[in-house]
Amino acid sequence: MKAVAKKDKFSDKEIKKHINSLIPETREVLTAPKEERVVFAMTDKFINYSRAKEILDYFELLIKLPRKPRMKGVLLYGESGTGKTMIVRHFFEKFAPKENEDEDADEIPVVLVETPTEPKERMIYDKIADTLGFPYKKSEDILDKERNIEHYVNFMRVKMIIFDEFHNILNGTAIQQRRVLSVIKSLTNRLWIPIVLVGTKDVLVAVETDDEIKRRFDPYQLHPWSEDKDFLRLLRTVEATLPLRLPSYMWKDEELVRWLIKSTDGILSEIIHLIKLGARRAILSGEERVTLKILKEANPFD
Ligand SMILES: Nc1ncnc2c1ncn2[C@@H]1O[C@H](COP(=O)(O)OP(=O)(O)O)[C@@H](O)[C@H]1O
Ligand SMILES: [Mg+2]
Repeated sequence: MKAVAKKDKFSDKEIKKHINSLIPETREVLTAPKEERVVFAMTDKFINYSRAKEILDYFELLIKLPRKPRMKGVLLYGESGTGKTMIVRHFFEKFAPKENEDEDADEIPVVLVETPTEPKERMIYDKIADTLGFPYKKSEDILDKERNIEHYVNFMRVKMIIFDEFHNILNGTAIQQRRVLSVIKSLTNRLWIPIVLVGTKDVLVAVETDDEIKRRFDPYQLHPWSEDKDFLRLLRTVEATLPLRLPSYMWKDEELVRWLIKSTDGILSEIIHLIKLGARRAILSGEERVTLKILKEANPFD
């Protein structure tokens, strides 16, 4: 590898150890041109931090349980940017639709739908139909829509339905909100599969208006990060994804840790974004490591 700035700060052994700690796909791009490494650094890689893993493991358990009516679902909530969508998308991808050659229909183990911004009960049904990819008439009555969904969920061996952006139901009037919640209730009655509702804290408020719904969902909150051991572990995991030739040891620098939490309010999306910009700056400047100084200079428009 070519000599890089500040390389003399680290022994060959330490650099070797650093390179071995990187995830394989990162190690592969380490010798690529700067521009390519910057693109790689700025591209999302799923970080399986401990709360994310806990949720993913629990979802996996849920889809393995024998089906029964009114299965308990999960209400995953947290501020915007806490990583909710990344988690459910990761789960969806892990159980990606399978093409069945000898059968008529593809298998779709996990259905991920975005709650319509105009939350009317028939739109919820139509959105599920769109996601499952079966034909329907917009004008069908609600009972037909429900029957069709039940049929296709069984036919395509759906094991879980996830509604992301479920706080969108709050765009509706109180009556519309109640109707949407009763659609969810009726789905848990008829489909015998777990349902996951994902959204901001507002979702919790909406759901709490209905005791029955409240009982059918275990709430799980994603919190902003704070200066603790888990956060240091997160930084270590993130560092293993950065295509930098020298170790940053972000988690060892108390001042950096404090600054990161303070300037992001602990919001994961902001933390990841700042570190990505830092990695970009570290590559372009030849510094090859993310330091507090680099992070502070990392704004691309300064
Ligand atoms: N597990 C993760 N691994 C890597 N990056 C993540 C992760 N979770 C969140 N991020 C970063 O934060 C951004 C926002 O996350 P997102 O899941 O959309 O938050 P939310 O749905 O809670 O608003 C993502 O685009 C990504 O850059
Ligand atoms: Mg989201």
